[in-house]
Amino acid sequence: MIHEKKSMGKTIGILTGGGDCPGLNPAIRGVVMRAQDFGYQCVGLLEGWKGLVEGNTMPLTVADVKEIVVKGGTILGTSRTNPFKKGTEKQCVENFKKLGLDALVACGGEDTLGVAGKFFKEFKLSVVGVPKTMDNDLSATDFTFGFDTATTIAMDAVERLRDTGRSHRRIMVLEVMGRHAGWVAVYTAIAGAADWLCVPEEPVNVQKMCAHLKGAHARNKVAIVVASEAITIPGEKVEGEELDEFGHMLLKNRGVADRLATIIEKETKIETRSATIGHIQRGGGPTLFDRILGTRVGVKAAELIKEGKFGQMVALRGNEVVGVSLEEATAKLKTVPSDWLRFAEIFFK
Ligand code: F6P
Repeated sequence: MIHEKKSMGKTIGILTGGGDCPGLNPAIRGVVMRAQDFGYQCVGLLEGWKGLVEGNTMPLTVADVKEIVVKGGTILGTSRTNPFKKGTEKQCVENFKKLGLDALVACGGEDTLGVAGKFFKEFKLSVVGVPKTMDNDLSATDFTFGFDTATTIAMDAVERLRDTGRSHRRIMVLEVMGRHAGWVAVYTAIAGAADWLCVPEEPVNVQKMCAHLKGAHARNKVAIVVASEAITIPGEKVEGEELDEFGHMLLKNRGVADRLATIIEKETKIETRSATIGHIQRGGGPTLFDRILGTRVGVKAAELIKEGKFGQMVALRGNEVVGVSLEEATAKLKTVPSDWLRFAEIFFK
């Protein structure tokens, strides 16, 4: 349903696309609250780019967003809709006009922001990007909100697994999210004092891992492995992976932790169990860090609009939030470099 534009000030549309993560609601609040300082009003587009395709909106007043800083998920809903894949990009441009939008804030990862960049480049839409992803794999920004909350939950899971694992003298494998980049796994392993780490950036060395786990288990009566969901296990052929509208693997049937546990148990002859925390990492209220980061990037997005700086994404650089080109921000995925992996290994003793 298309809501009529009522006031004479600028109207900013806000959408959240891709996988949700804690910090989106603080970002929405940041945009709306700062926009009000400039006399702008905001409107929420429902379920990512789908909201612009269908012209589905909800009001976003200061009263609507006042307390959402504490809430997980996104009050706008989300989807992995790609208008450029569906041939609905012109419909989006028409709806942008029909809704009386002067600017659009797109909160998302590389896919959502890639679409935002295309709308800016090909249709000159006044778009600003806000980076979000629990995977923390966006270039051009030091951190994305969602990552801190997700990793804190994963770190807690390691601690719980260690307790039960030690009681039963087992090896425990924890599978965490991170589709193309192992940032969640690396931080979780270091902060949770795990004994081994498997990430998509490097193939698993089964012999080396099992030899180390046997030693760690003998010393500590338990051993913990943190594995990213998209790792490659040598000798395994992954076929027929379902893809989303952006061509990314859905991974919903991967279950690497299970398979890794079976391999480890066979090699080490030590009883091994696995656990997958999956979407639990994406729910719940954001941590303090994610609330503040979400808020800062939301506020900056409204300021970029005020300054007429479109085609930009807000980025965290050191402790500053700055505008960077959307094109630069979505050009390359930020995977884990090998020096981070070697750093994590210092603690596998
Ligand atoms: O892109 C973020 C992410 O959480 C990935 O880590 C994960 O593979 C994917 O989303 C899961 O997506 P969905 O919610 O569609 O299952």
